[in-house]
Amino acid sequence: MSEDRTFAAPTVVRLPRYTKADQEEILGTGDDPFGVDSAGLTWLPKDEHFGVRHGGRLVAHTGLLRLPIAIGGAETEVVGVGGVAVAPSVQGQGLARLVVTAALEHARTMGPRHALLFCRPPLVPLYRRLGWHPLDTDVLVEQPEGRLVTMPLRTMVTPLRDDARWPSGPVRLFSLPM
Ligand SMILES: CC(C)(COP(=O)(O)OP(=O)(O)OC[C@H]1O[C@@H](n2cnc3c(N)ncnc32)[C@H](O)[C@@H]1OP(=O)(O)O)[C@@H](O)C(=O)NCCC(=O)NCCS
Repeated sequence: MSEDRTFAAPTVVRLPRYTKADQEEILGTGDDPFGVDSAGLTWLPKDEHFGVRHGGRLVAHTGLLRLPIAIGGAETEVVGVGGVAVAPSVQGQGLARLVVTAALEHARTMGPRHALLFCRPPLVPLYRRLGWHPLDTDVLVEQPEGRLVTMPLRTMVTPLRDDARWPSGPVRLFSLPM
């Protein structure tokens, strides 16, 4: 006799807000949960947030915001993706894939032709697996007091439309990085 059990598959929900406490619920209260503090950068908060809850606890997040940018001298916008986080106890189970994919589905409705993210070099293979491509050009980003710095992390992009091709040339964000 088979037992009738229903296992709820994890689903992504839109979060009305995403606070420091929410991030700590996912990644804990450690000093440098994204491993990027040594870059010494100031980051932008994201505007739109997607998350996965498990047993009442937030266990995964991805944030989005539109960013003004110049690519090869042409001014346009990209959707910046950031704050990708999965709770250590449930990493390696596809939750980053799930929440990033759902966020990108929404990003396709936002207008820009590409999404862009910054990551530590060890995460390049993971994002490649999710369909992202590393840029081989320097990327300039703004910092407080109008400083312009070369992004020390890797920059990766993915198209948001079938016909989108990343243009060649230098890349300059007209904002803090996200
Ligand atoms: C990075 C992080 C978000 C990954 O979350 P995760 O839930 O473990 O990732 P997933 O299980 O969804 O893996 C995504 C894909 O990458 C693959 N992958 C994971 N590590 C990989 C690696 N080192 N090389 C190649 N592929 C890798 C997985 O196999 C999976 O591919 P598949 O779906 O085709 O099997 C998580 O480790 C985390 O929160 N780290 C701390 C915060 C952080 O550094 N965030 C990144 C900010 S850019």
